[in-house]
Amino acid sequence: MGRTPSSAADPLVGLSIGTGNPLSEQKAVRGVPRGPGGQGVTLKRGELHVWRVRLREQPRLEPTAGESARAARFVTAPLRRRYLRSHSALRDILGSLTSSRVDFALHEHGKPYLPGVPALRFNLAHSGEMALVAVALDVEVGVDVEHLRPLPGFAAVADRFFPPGYPPPRSARQFFQYWTRLEAILKAQGVGLYGAGAVIEGDWMVREIDAGSRNYVAAVATSDQSLEVQIHDYGAEEE
Ligand SMILES: CC(C)(COP(=O)(O)OP(=O)(O)OC[C@H]1O[C@@H](n2cnc3c(N)ncnc32)[C@H](O)[C@@H]1OP(=O)(O)O)[C@@H](O)C(=O)NCCC(=O)NCCS
Repeated sequence: MGRTPSSAADPLVGLSIGTGNPLSEQKAVRGVPRGPGGQGVTLKRGELHVWRVRLREQPRLEPTAGESARAARFVTAPLRRRYLRSHSALRDILGSLTSSRVDFALHEHGKPYLPGVPALRFNLAHSGEMALVAVALDVEVGVDVEHLRPLPGFAAVADRFFPPGYPPPRSARQFFQYWTRLEAILKAQGVGLYGAGAVIEGDWMVREIDAGSRNYVAAVATSDQSLEVQIHDYGAEEE
């Protein structure tokens, strides 16, 4: 499987590369305007963009019928707001990168994708008041973010869900660091937690991401380690 952890303390960083999917003819796509001036960000082949989305703000886009129905199932208003804001941001970012309709479909284990724009790969993660949207062209991506919190049982969770042979985390913070790296890979693969506890198949590049607050840890994974990772703040003019 070619997995080469860089150090015992850092089991999911520094993995060797795998090949990406066949490249399409599309070279770059124009990015979401980030301010009243309409500043755009261009997503180029070879780049992986991670958008940091603060979930305290109101959604920019009207929800779709499906989003409204799902939001209605959340018990509290903050949970509904966070869900709607993160999905509004996801559609806004993706919509700025394609002229096609942003119509989602789901892979077998629930990973959303765009059947009409197969070159545009993305993944969403949210925790607490933060969401991350990762996007790349023709290369599978996965992202995870976790709000740091006390987790007295972290050793047992690690024991159950981490791949065999991984060193046990020494603190809750280290647990969440390892966890986000692992989940980013599982989300890039599209298997999600169905893949937890098993040996990781394939070769993945994992990077820790600055989630914009020391109360969060985050990671992004991709099958192409040559990708240049860029961080952008979504709706920065609103903060
Ligand atoms: C998908 C999964 C990895 C999400 O983990 P999480 O920490 O709860 O949530 P995150 O914020 O990291 O990611 C959620 C987003 O990942 C995306 N996603 C969903 N399934 C995915 C998959 N298999 N692979 C990659 N991304 C996925 C969605 O965009 C989702 O957003 P939404 O829930 O707002 O629609 C995890 O819930 C899982 O694997 N579930 C499968 C098992 C399951 O569904 N069990 C039912 C409840 S026990």
